[in-house]
Amino acid sequence: MAETGSDIYKAASFLRQGLPVAIPTETVYGLAANALDEAAVRKIYAVKNRPLHNPLILHLAGKEELEKYVTNVPETAYKLIERFWPGPLTLLLPKKDTVPSIITHGMPRVAVRVPDHPLTLELLKIIPFPLAAPSANPFGYISPTQAKHVQQQIGEKIPYILDGGNCTQGIESTIVGFEDTETIVYRLGAVAVEEIETITGSVSFYIKDENAPQAPGMLLKHYSPHTPFFLTDNIQESLLNFKGQKIGFLLFNKSFIADINIAHQEILSPQNDMREAASRLYAAMHQMDAYGLDVIIAEKFPDSGIGKAINDRLGRAAVK
Ligand code: TXA
Ligand code: MG
Repeated sequence: MAETGSDIYKAASFLRQGLPVAIPTETVYGLAANALDEAAVRKIYAVKNRPLHNPLILHLAGKEELEKYVTNVPETAYKLIERFWPGPLTLLLPKKDTVPSIITHGMPRVAVRVPDHPLTLELLKIIPFPLAAPSANPFGYISPTQAKHVQQQIGEKIPYILDGGNCTQGIESTIVGFEDTETIVYRLGAVAVEEIETITGSVSFYIKDENAPQAPGMLLKHYSPHTPFFLTDNIQESLLNFKGQKIGFLLFNKSFIADINIAHQEILSPQNDMREAASRLYAAMHQMDAYGLDVIIAEKFPDSGIGKAINDRLGRAAVK
């Protein structure tokens, strides 16, 4: 069991010793290590069981830190930083030699962001190094949005979980890169594409290719519960496939009245608020995964704003 608490000095002390520590962010919990210590970073991969070709995000204390680690920052990137940092926007920028190549798997660009969580920002300010941190889930499983998710999944392998409560956004950061004058979205996330476009003009999307080494976050099977998980835009119709099974529904804003026995229904936002739904999504998936259901059927969200990112995660969780 990892010790859980809100002591940033304790967290800092483990990090200084080269040990990985779970940290809260506004998106999901991260599994953090000293980004400048290659041996410490390797421990992240070992704890997560994550393939080394999947690069890590560098978490900085503030935007003033940026130029220590990257170069050739385009004007558009500065505008996005002004608007969204601290916050759930990750930028892919050309790395300086100060960033160990294990962080980027030898690629020329590093992913950077300033997380918007008071505890983690304080922590970053008292340590003399940035934190490399992927989401604190075992590779391929649902990301953690509460300290207890981390405890359940990897608690035995780390000394400390910095408990910052529920993650307010609940879905990972949006990842953006730049090519010439183009802004490219590599991963949908907590900053909606529409919000980015108010600053950059229209963006393009990195073409999903399961085998592309450039963006392993795009691995299609990802964020999955252990229970078979299906995504549908027609619940009624989908029921035909699961007759006699113990079904759980993961729904946006209202319950589903069926003439069959439904084991469980989880309504993410009775208020009809997609932001609220996003913040509760992974916790609901964790919970439903523990109910011993035969199948979880999730309802597709409206395909706009944060709904796009929610649909992306539901799609990756789903059985193909
Ligand atoms: O919200 C978040 O971004 C959370 C919190 C903890 O900050 N972190 C997170 O990290 O989601 P992770 O490792 O689970 O997903 C980050 C993804 C990687 O899977 C990878 O695809 C992409 O970011 N990435 C990181 N560095 C990259 C690079 N140099 N080039 C291309 N993609 C990169
Ligand atoms: Mg992840």
